[in-house]
This record gives sequence, C-alpha cells and structure tokens, in this order.
Amino acid sequence: MLDFNEAKSRLAEYGQEHLLRFYNELAPDEQASLLRQIEEIDFSVVEAVKSADSPAPRGTFAPIGAVTVGDIAANSDSYRKTGIEAIQAGKAAAVLLAGGQGTRLGFDKPKGMFNIGVSKDLFIFECLINNLMKVVREAGCWVPLYIMTSEKNNEDTTSFFEEKNYFGYNKDYVKFFVQSMAPSTDFDGKIYMESKSRISSSPNGNGGWFSSLVRAGLLDDIRKKGVEWINIFAVDNVLQQIADPLFIGAVISTGSQSGSKVVSKAAPEEKVGVLCLEDGKPSIVEYYEMTDKMLNLRNEDGSLAYNYGVILNYLFNVDKLVEIVDRNLPLHVVKKKIPYMDENGNSISPTEPNGYKFETLVLDMVHMQDSCLPYEVVRSKEFAPVKNATGVDSVDSARELLKENGVEL
Ligand code: UTP
Repeated sequence: MLDFNEAKSRLAEYGQEHLLRFYNELAPDEQASLLRQIEEIDFSVVEAVKSADSPAPRGTFAPIGAVTVGDIAANSDSYRKTGIEAIQAGKAAAVLLAGGQGTRLGFDKPKGMFNIGVSKDLFIFECLINNLMKVVREAGCWVPLYIMTSEKNNEDTTSFFEEKNYFGYNKDYVKFFVQSMAPSTDFDGKIYMESKSRISSSPNGNGGWFSSLVRAGLLDDIRKKGVEWINIFAVDNVLQQIADPLFIGAVISTGSQSGSKVVSKAAPEEKVGVLCLEDGKPSIVEYYEMTDKMLNLRNEDGSLAYNYGVILNYLFNVDKLVEIVDRNLPLHVVKKKIPYMDENGNSISPTEPNGYKFETLVLDMVHMQDSCLPYEVVRSKEFAPVKNATGVDSVDSARELLKENGVEL
C-alpha cells in the first residue's frame, strides 16, 4: 500500500493534494483507509473534466430497420425453438444491472428492494425473478443469473436476496459481483471529500459491467457453464422479459452478433436513445444529439425513420465481450448534486448541481459490435420503468402497466 509521502506525490501530480488535508487528525485505521482509496483511484478519469463541455464528435448516422412485432409473430415458432434449445444447452445467461443509486426515485435502499405492491408485498427484485421464472418453467432448466451491485448497495442487496430466499430462484444459479467506483469532482476537477477520511465517489456507470464481472472471477464460471450469450438488463423495468427465448432465437437465427430490444417511439421528440447506424456500425444516438431533420425523417409508409428506442435490454456474445473488454468506452461526464465536506470540515448538501460524476455506459458497447439486431417489443407489455416516484416512468405508471398485464399487486 502507498505510504503518506507516496500518496502525497501522486496527488501532487494531479493537483489533488487537498485530499490529505485532514490526514493528521485521523485515527490510524482511517489514515490507512484514506491511503488505500488514493491508491485505488483512477485519476485519469478526472482528466475528462477538461473535455466536459466538448463531447467526442460523432460519425455519420443512418437509420436502421428492426425485426418488427409482426415479423416476430410470423417467425415465433422457429425463434422460440432456437431460443429454448440454446437455453436448455446452457448457452444463455442473464446479468442484472443493479449497481445504480436510483437517486430520482428517492428511495434510500437499492432500487430492487422497492416494494411496488399495493395490497401485498411485491418487490422490484421479486418482479424480475417472477419474469425470469416463466422462462425457467418453459425451458425446464435454470438460467444463470449474475447480479451487479456497487460498494454502496452490495451488502443490502445480497442480504435481501438471502432473507427472501431468492424469491424461489435456485440460489446456486445466482452470483453477485461488485462494480467499480469513480471519484466525484467540483467543476474544476478537484475531487470532493465525503468526510475527513472518505473520498467522494459513486458507481462508475453501467458500462463497466463486463470488466467488473471478469475482475470478480466470474468469466471462468461463464466459460465452465458453456454460456455463449448474455442478456443484460436494467433493474428498474418491472415488465422486463429476461432471457426471452424469442429474442435469443431471433438473434441466433439472423446470425447477428448482438441484439437490442427496442420500442417504437411514441412521438418524434420522445426523450429516448435510438438504435441506428453510425459510420455503418450499430450505435445509439441520444435524443439530444438528433437534429430536427433526423427526428422528423420518415419512411415512405409514413413511419419514423429513427424509430426504435432502446430499453436497456441487450443480448451480447461472450466471445465478442472478451475481445472488447480492454477497449476503453467513452467516459460520460455528468453534472450532479454531490454532497461533500468543505475545507472547514462542514457537511454540505447542495440544492443545485455542484460538480461532475464520471460514467461509462453499456449502450456504448453496441457501437463495438459488428451487428446488432433491433428486436421490436410491444411497449405496454415489456416496458414499465420505475425511474421517478410520481409522474412519467414512475411507481404509479409502472403499477398501472403491471395491472394491465395481469400482475397481482
Ligand atoms: P440509471 O441510468 O437509471 O441510473 O440506471 P440509476 O443510478 O439507477 O438512477 P438515477 O439516475 O440515480 O435515478 C440504469 C440501469 O443501470 C444500472 C442501474 O441500476 C439501472 O439498472 N446502473 C447504473 C448500474 O448498474 N451501475 C451504475 O453505475 C449506474
């Protein structure tokens, strides 16, 4: 581990010496903890502040067509057969992204512990397990499930699953891994302190999921089980169809290297990332990156050309993931409200954004694929995100959609 002088000179290189301001006031174990944090911080991340206002230039976009709901219905028997066979052969696994902080929901536990039930308990994690159980019953075998947590919520998440007996899932098929953290800074790139001995940090985005999984030693498990396809999905869509045999079957049958579930946009200006081509490769363009012309471009039949919004449900091929694991994903520098301790040791809870967090995003992995099949699903059947407490994409709207789909609440 670094000693005090080594830590000091490392910090001096990056202009972050203030992190040792209270070192002499700390107890020996706190001093050791602070030095460990300094050793672990990837300071190169913070360099991205310099380009915070000038995001990387994008290439040339073009629309992409999807396997539509109609196409899927027409091919459902063969897609289902191919998908179920792959699952039964142990070729498919699922990864639940549950490392986020869910700040918009304002719930102080992991989002999956939120009880969306009305007259009975129904936790978000439970909804997801129930959805996966449908596939388990159909295929007659368990699907390996890997759950990514963060340092901040790992303990709560793992104990909750234990306490609830994995909601009936076979715990031998469930493995947890912890994602990495990234420091938070002020607008000048100075790293904030959370307390005198803790550097302010937050989960480093969902893009690092595969490298975190590898670091946790789980690639061996994946290889041993013969898994070839990983379905990665977000914690907060309670209608999420996981390891969907038709989706897996469609990606395999069409010879695609990856796939993404998509929904038709509700309106040209809907705030959703859209699957498209960028310089001929699959990619996701954010709504704020689209010109008016792109937003309103239409096909001959009147449908939107950039029509297919992503819902954070992707199917990736393990060999390709291994090939790209060391490639850097673009770093997104995001303005956030960051609670911190000022130079006098007072704790401050800002009411306005006061600095940056640094994240990589799983959607950027799509651009590293040779192909990605846009697979259209019916929004009201498969997309009920719980982002906010009320209003759009909220607990209320998700409850309505669950009820519409016959889920007892
Ligand atoms: P969101 O982008 O909605 O972020 O995550 P969030 O942290 O959950 O919520 P807000 O923005 O603070 O309200 C999309 C998915 O990616 C996961 C989340 O758990 C969710 O499943 N995620 C996000 C991670 O696993 N790690 C991260 O660092 C960020």
